[in-house]
Amino acid sequence: MSYKWWQSAVIYQIYPRSFQDSSGNGIGDLQGIIERLDYLNDGTRDSLGFDAIWISPFFKSPMKDHGYDVSDYCDVDPLFGDLDTFDRLLAAAHQRGIKVIIDYVPNHSSDQHPWFIASRSSKDNPQRDWYIWRDPKADGSPPNNWGSFMGGPAWTLDEHTGQYYLHQFVPEQPELNWRNPAVKEALFDAIRFWLDRGVDGFRMDVIGLIIKDEMLRDNPVNPNVNLTELHPNDVMGRTQSLYNLDQDDVHPILKEMRQIFDRYDGDRVIIGELWGPLDRWARYYGENLDEIHMPFNFRLMDEPWETAAEARQKVNDLEAAIPAGGWPNYVLGNHDRIRLATRFGPRARAAIMMLLTLRGTPTFYYGDELGIKNVDIPPEKVQDPQAKGLGAGRSRDVARTPMQWDDTPHAGFSRVEPWLPVEDEYQVRNVTAQTADPSSQLNLVKQLLYLRRGSAALSIGEYESLSDDPHVFLFRRWHGEDEKIVALNFSGKRISVDLERPLTLLLSTAVDRTRQAVSGVFELRPYEGAVFGAADKESIE
Ligand code: NOJ
Repeated sequence: MSYKWWQSAVIYQIYPRSFQDSSGNGIGDLQGIIERLDYLNDGTRDSLGFDAIWISPFFKSPMKDHGYDVSDYCDVDPLFGDLDTFDRLLAAAHQRGIKVIIDYVPNHSSDQHPWFIASRSSKDNPQRDWYIWRDPKADGSPPNNWGSFMGGPAWTLDEHTGQYYLHQFVPEQPELNWRNPAVKEALFDAIRFWLDRGVDGFRMDVIGLIIKDEMLRDNPVNPNVNLTELHPNDVMGRTQSLYNLDQDDVHPILKEMRQIFDRYDGDRVIIGELWGPLDRWARYYGENLDEIHMPFNFRLMDEPWETAAEARQKVNDLEAAIPAGGWPNYVLGNHDRIRLATRFGPRARAAIMMLLTLRGTPTFYYGDELGIKNVDIPPEKVQDPQAKGLGAGRSRDVARTPMQWDDTPHAGFSRVEPWLPVEDEYQVRNVTAQTADPSSQLNLVKQLLYLRRGSAALSIGEYESLSDDPHVFLFRRWHGEDEKIVALNFSGKRISVDLERPLTLLLSTAVDRTRQAVSGVFELRPYEGAVFGAADKESIE
């Protein structure tokens, strides 16, 4: 069986505003990414060795949702550079063997996109039907009860034409009408534009939202909601998302979209931002694996779990839900969620070891290798429209703060004050300091990636969980002759695991004991994880 590059790859997500500012305006840019590529992979063991980067949107945008409101799908926003900078970034990445995945925002454009400007200009404009317009109800209220992810209703009345338009994010993100073939073609053209330029794949934003119920029916009221706990502006939280996402008609469109990719060489990949119950989610692979290569799997990030037993259950449920031949993937952090270090606390290192040793492609969020935590944002510095709409508790700014390169002012991210504050502890938590500390989290990640890269079992092998210990997640990965055992203690207690035979300890999350022979029983320290190899195949240092 042959494997595609994206199956054995580890992806690093870059939020371009916050990675490296090269222009001196406090906001990261594409040139900044070029300058930091060696950190991610310079081809030697000194760098981390990521195989691919996914760059969040850098397209032309009024930045009402920091780039997820696109006003030109085929150009770079001057804040980040230009097409030439992008081409140089792509070439520099490819030179280092790094694949480049870009974002694609098909559900909505910016209200400043020429398509929407035309569409809103009059009811009989030829592009009126490119967006979703409806008359008010008899009492003047919105056409249905849908809410926005950012708070408030999902409809805004356009005074000029007297109709409402749909937007499930901020009002400046009107939703495109994918039932109109011209819209579909225009958005397919945008895909071809970037594939022709040489990108290796796309991460598709809220792809399960692009098709809505044809009749735009009201969503059912959410019976589980506690209205006293719900933010007063959380209209979406009052209902269940039955008619606004995961509609059957989305699948034929995705099949068509996939055919575009299949016509290119190089195994270009589609990753979809999707969620929801496992059976519905798994359909996005396509009946014949002919839709999305990897629907993002957020379960270990979004769903509550504390113990090894709970983690194992989630992994085993996922493995069981994936269609034959489908490839899993795992995510523990991104630009919409709280930081991995904040989510997992003392279990963070074991969680990272799990992410990088399970069967499936891991996506790693920038800065999580250092353990950057959520940063409290003072009210006057709030940027995120979701925090503005639904309160500080829903802020995504907390996990979008600048990358911490060194202990100089602004952490080496910028010469000037950055767009969001740097974490207070950046003088101790930064790339330079952690590179010098052999047992740092950064070095753990580096060694895990190195181990994974050199092991067919870890990168493409099979998976099987080995025990039902409530505190230790013990599993086996294997491919051909290569076999690895992973033991993750998610509890604060010392626990002995029965490995049933002598093995070689290859790496501990504490990065202090490596290459040791171990007898059949091994004692894990609190929150410690360990990877083992066969006793007779691995050399002992
Ligand atoms: C999901 C993206 O990840 C998020 O950042 C954005 O606000 C929404 N989609 C809307 O595009």
